[in-house]
Amino acid sequence: MAKFLVENSGALSGEVHVSGAKNAVLPLMAASILACDECVIQEVPRLRDVAVMKEILASIGGKLDQDEAGSLKIDFRDLTSTEADGNLVKKMRASFLIMGPLLARKGHAKVYMPGGCTIGARPVELHLKGFEALGADVVVNDKFTEAFAPPGGLKGASIYLDFPSVGATENIMMAAALAEGTTYIENAAEEPEIVDLANFLNKMGASIKGAGTDMIKIEGVKELHGARHTVIPDRIETGTFMLAAAITRGEVLIQNIVPDHVRAIASKLRECGVTVELVDEGLYINGGERPLVSTGIKTLPYPGFPTDMQSPFMAFLTTVEGDSTVIETVFENRFMHVNELNRMGANIRTEGNRAYVQGGKKLEGAKVRATDLRAGAALVLAGLAAEGTTEVDEIYHIERGYEDFVKKFRDLGAIILRVDE
Ligand code: UD1
Repeated sequence: MAKFLVENSGALSGEVHVSGAKNAVLPLMAASILACDECVIQEVPRLRDVAVMKEILASIGGKLDQDEAGSLKIDFRDLTSTEADGNLVKKMRASFLIMGPLLARKGHAKVYMPGGCTIGARPVELHLKGFEALGADVVVNDKFTEAFAPPGGLKGASIYLDFPSVGATENIMMAAALAEGTTYIENAAEEPEIVDLANFLNKMGASIKGAGTDMIKIEGVKELHGARHTVIPDRIETGTFMLAAAITRGEVLIQNIVPDHVRAIASKLRECGVTVELVDEGLYINGGERPLVSTGIKTLPYPGFPTDMQSPFMAFLTTVEGDSTVIETVFENRFMHVNELNRMGANIRTEGNRAYVQGGKKLEGAKVRATDLRAGAALVLAGLAAEGTTEVDEIYHIERGYEDFVKKFRDLGAIILRVDE
């Protein structure tokens, strides 16, 4: 199994270019199922999750071809199957996003989910409620989830989401794009990735208004055609490099960014005393200009502080003098990195969805485990600031979602080595 060896790297410095967003490209790829000719998605990052989505799409008849420049052609003229194999699906929660497009285009979708898969009945009930509101018959059991459109096809409806789920908003939006009549998604997720998906669908001939607000209106159309689209920059990767500069008290220029998408992260870093400035070339971060102070964070749906940045920000807070509270409201169990950070000398105590960080402790290298994608990134950041060597295991999580992770960090002066055992 591969691992990272990370050394104290001093202040990082230099420039880094952000890749296309993982959380935007996966729904875009799923949306290409809806088109009856070729779609081209540009600036597609080379990631494990993208590779898994490619395999899933190929397994149902998609013809895919990605060039060196990151331009991905997807042709679904022949949609040969409406069933997705569980062995692929269980690798990635986002694979459930093929359900809406399959149901809309073919009137049927079946996703096998063998026991133990994290995509259980509960975490997708909002997606399913949406499909049912559009008239689908949904069957859920231990092995699979299956949905059937009514004889005349899906019908537009008003759907209220009990929680603004990103995936449910995307799945329902894709299904409704080909439904007869008008669909309203109320309490919709407002994440930039939703807007990117709506823009792509509209280029394909859909009629979607209000994406980026809590009320999305979709006028169903009969058919969607191919389109060309460039993926938005990854705001979570941007945030990761903002924190890399902050935790090492370094100076980094981050290129290919949308400032609005990282506003919450920028505000919180400024509160701590980190310089965050928009300049012509990108976003300039300097963590070494003044003594830093602690702050509290609370994760919320967009435009609130992103849950995916909670663990990297917590790693940073352990290095700042003073007490901080971190409140996680989006996911129930997203503090697995706390034990790992504590093994590195941090002092963090959790109580329900709150973590209390006593900052300013000197971090020390240790053998730690990437418990999930962003937690893995958080441990690498901690390792850059810790004394000695940090060994981060189970890095396949990190490689699911960061393109050229080691190279980008090394270019900034980080001492990080990938070791294959
Ligand atoms: C997406 C992102 C992920 C990010 C998350 C929240 C992708 C590929 N992934 O995940 O990186 O952390 O948004 O910003 O875009 N829930 C239910 N029932 C449902 C759906 C969701 O209870 O039917 C719950 C989830 O268990 C979770 C919360 O709602 O606690 C948020 O989930 P959701 O917004 O759906 O996240 P994803 O789309 O899975």
